[in-house]
Amino acid sequence: MSFDEKLTKTLEALGAKDEASVRALFNEVWDALENEKRTLVSTPAANDADRMERAKALRDRWLSRRNGLLAQVDEHWLKPASRELKPIVGREFNQLRQLAKGLEVEELIKSVRVESGSAVVGRDLNDREGLGAGKGKGITQAVEAMSLDPTLPGNRRSLGSIHPITRVQREIEEIFITLGFWIESGPEIESVYYNFDALNIPESHPARDDWDTFYIDPQTVLRTHTSPVQIHAMKKYGAPLHILIPGKCYRRDNPDATHSPMFHQIEGMAIDQNVTFADLKGTLVFFAKRFFGDKTRTSFHPSFFPFTEPSGEVAVSCPICDGQGCRTCKQSGWIEVMGCGMVHPEVLRHGGIDPDRYSGWAFGLGVERYAMMKYGIHDIQLFYQSDLRFLEQF
Ligand code: FA5
Repeated sequence: MSFDEKLTKTLEALGAKDEASVRALFNEVWDALENEKRTLVSTPAANDADRMERAKALRDRWLSRRNGLLAQVDEHWLKPASRELKPIVGREFNQLRQLAKGLEVEELIKSVRVESGSAVVGRDLNDREGLGAGKGKGITQAVEAMSLDPTLPGNRRSLGSIHPITRVQREIEEIFITLGFWIESGPEIESVYYNFDALNIPESHPARDDWDTFYIDPQTVLRTHTSPVQIHAMKKYGAPLHILIPGKCYRRDNPDATHSPMFHQIEGMAIDQNVTFADLKGTLVFFAKRFFGDKTRTSFHPSFFPFTEPSGEVAVSCPICDGQGCRTCKQSGWIEVMGCGMVHPEVLRHGGIDPDRYSGWAFGLGVERYAMMKYGIHDIQLFYQSDLRFLEQF
């Protein structure tokens, strides 16, 4: 016999002759009421009208004066109950009515969410007037009636982690900060003057070509390297100067395993009296050992940059194979890690520093390349794809 049908019969007809069997019947009603409410609140409504309609239907089914389920309990269970059972039935019925107060439409719609997301379950624990106030049933039943299971674990918020590029950038920054450098930054949208002219890069240099650089207008570019910040800092602080400049750079390079149109560089610069190439070498050898490990060997080769003279490329013994030759170092045992050199006197002049009094060195490196070496990553594009399977490893 269905629970609805039982409400159309008297307790006597149902064979309920003692307190235990009466309680068992009321428990069935209590459970049915909770289940129906839980179903309602755990299914988000399509809109306000839908929410109102569903709440009203549930309310009417239980609380309608004429043929609601509670009216039937009153009519068929309470009124005809024997003198012995009446106090028991009356007490159970009162508790049920308390519980059913939570089925008033205003109460119900508070708990039903209008959207296609997950359901809202539970309600204000302090709302003693609502479903939770099962008089005499105790706190456990009250909490159950609120469709809230306080023993369930909470919704855990997953904690993000530091992006590998940021991680490597910070690691490099820390090494130079311990040497007395400070962090400087500059604009990513830069004038042609700062990005090229002030750095002694002539109009004829291929880097100035439309094919290599993103031009915003003929006088404005997305900076192609962090070197223009050298000029900003010299103008701002004068000499002496010991700065580290991390930041984003942009070049019209096609994306492939080692190139991206947006990437990160770190620039280093030291200007003081009597600064020599030996200071540059000493600093970069110290840095390479700190970053790649104590066993790392360093090698300097002549190179060319318009803004340094002399210029060099720094290579380190491959940290993956310890210089034996592997896929990462293309079997050479060495990996080029940065460009560097003594700051060109013309560049010092553009920065407002007298090249007869001061000298300086600078270097520039690609952060992605360091992160790829450190973590054995063979495709630079992985850094920008926001794929959690990749990012969660750091
Ligand atoms: C420069 O940009 C110089 N400004 C560095 C410098 C500073 C030299 C100070 C001397 C003194 P280069 O063009 O080689 O140098 O770029 C430096 C590094 O940036 C490269 O070694 C590479 O790791 C990184 N890089 C350059 N283009 C890209 C790209 N499209 N994608 C990812 N990394 C890149």
